[in-house]
Amino acid sequence: MIHIRIANREQIPIIVAEHLRKQLERKPDSVIGLPTGSTPLMVYREIVAQHKKGKIDFSRVITFNLDEYVGLDGKHVQSYKYYMYKNLFRHVNIDLNNTHIPNGVAENLEEECRRYDQLIEQLGGIDWQLLGIGLNGHIGFNEPGECLSAVTHVQRLLEETRIANARFFGSLQDVPTHAITMGMGSILRAKKIVLIATGQEKAKILAKAVNGPITTRVPASFLQLHQDVTFVLDQAAASAITRLRNDSCEFAH
Ligand code: GLP
Repeated sequence: MIHIRIANREQIPIIVAEHLRKQLERKPDSVIGLPTGSTPLMVYREIVAQHKKGKIDFSRVITFNLDEYVGLDGKHVQSYKYYMYKNLFRHVNIDLNNTHIPNGVAENLEEECRRYDQLIEQLGGIDWQLLGIGLNGHIGFNEPGECLSAVTHVQRLLEETRIANARFFGSLQDVPTHAITMGMGSILRAKKIVLIATGQEKAKILAKAVNGPITTRVPASFLQLHQDVTFVLDQAAASAITRLRNDSCEFAH
């Protein structure tokens, strides 16, 4: 069931940080799944603020990031490893040994993908997964297509995704062509999922994800199958979600 929460943009990070706080209150050693991109930045800022107030404790938390660009090591400013350290990990009391991000420069990428899945499983799977959504409906870097992969895999990035992410790199040719991404299986096995999105440009794809058929052409539509998903959206992002499908959605304004 997808719960939809519509909130002012400024409220979104507060809602998400509270969700995480409650999760860590219930289970201080939670395994949490984390996204990158521009939307989560405001959430990470709020989580850091809550941590500084003593409300969120990361001492026992384990994290798994959704994805990493192939070919970028952790020192590259556009690597997701760098992003996570800069925007979250260095500001909170997390043990860096408990933070996991696929290694985009591993000698054997296939082995790295298997290692990542095994580690997620060994540590009990993901308790709480935060997601963003790509303009084309990708989650993590699970791109739309004929089929989706359940397991962590090397994904060729679609041109539209590389174009969307070129703003971070300065030029399209600098955007890596491939990424390692957690598969749909690990994401959908997460016990709780919170997806955040803002802005008019995400409205159409969110309507497809929520109201449309479940299709590999819109990877986020698979979230309709999950038991406990909350979409936290601003008004603009939620504006094209028109009808409720098979009672699978609840509006909680
Ligand atoms: C990237 C990430 C996704 C993220 C998406 C949207 O491609 N791999 O995990 O959800 O971008 O990012 P933004 O929040 O910048 O729109």
